[in-house]
Amino acid sequence: MKVLILDSEADAIDRAAEIIAETLREKPDAVLGLATGGTMIPLYEALRARHEDGLSFAKARSFNLDEYIGLAPDHPASYHRYMREALFDHIDIDPARAHLPRGDAPDAAAEAEAYEALITDAGGIDLQLLGLGRNGHIGFNEPTSSLTSRTRVKTLTESTRKANRGYFDDEAQVPRFAITMGVGTITEARHCLLIATGAAKAAAAAAMIEGPISAACPASILQMHRRATIVLDRDAASELKLSGYYEHVHPGGQDSAFDRGGA
Ligand code: F6R
Repeated sequence: MKVLILDSEADAIDRAAEIIAETLREKPDAVLGLATGGTMIPLYEALRARHEDGLSFAKARSFNLDEYIGLAPDHPASYHRYMREALFDHIDIDPARAHLPRGDAPDAAAEAEAYEALITDAGGIDLQLLGLGRNGHIGFNEPTSSLTSRTRVKTLTESTRKANRGYFDDEAQVPRFAITMGVGTITEARHCLLIATGAAKAAAAAAMIEGPISAACPASILQMHRRATIVLDRDAASELKLSGYYEHVHPGGQDSAFDRGGA
């Protein structure tokens, strides 16, 4: 695990955007795994700015982590809509190559299985972007999700429904189920890039990085990944016991001389 601690949220976002841009510069047809949520909004703004400066997504392909069951792609709170508004409508990605599971599919389990097969057919994911739930979830893999799970239907916890309430008119409208890539699906990505900012993520970040590997904190499985990069701002890093070491290895959140290719 490469833990990069940046002074501010803006610096963390910029560092994460640079990692994504580097991936695309090295492999213009990279398969990107994408995430939604509040953390990603400034990140997608940073990618839009890089696109204006010449970064191309034209040959890339993308797979989002998840979608709410019951929401059609044009629902204002759907992740389809979020992605179009936050990123896809502003860059040169081919919409036919930007995939999300359909929340309104008549058979959600079959949709999940087909989505998993599509990822395999694309050759797997080169770079998977992840946010961190306050309860340690990645994608919508809530605590106690199997650490080898595949794309499937998950029941959301009440805490996740509350955290996402702002996207809906009222809490009753927040869906109870989602289709999400599984923890096993996520960790098959060749590089996982998790971004967490703000003090509300500090306990989950500490559990993910320094706690036991446990389904109680699904993100902790990243400790087993051969190439996991965790980008934190100082607030999200505030409960880490070994932050001095991480900063010694990666001063200012930059690569050390030895870590090209992963740590
Ligand atoms: C959404 C997703 C979730 C979020 C997480 C953090 O696609 O995968 O795991 O990344 O809930 O959300 P925010 O950034 O809103 O705190």
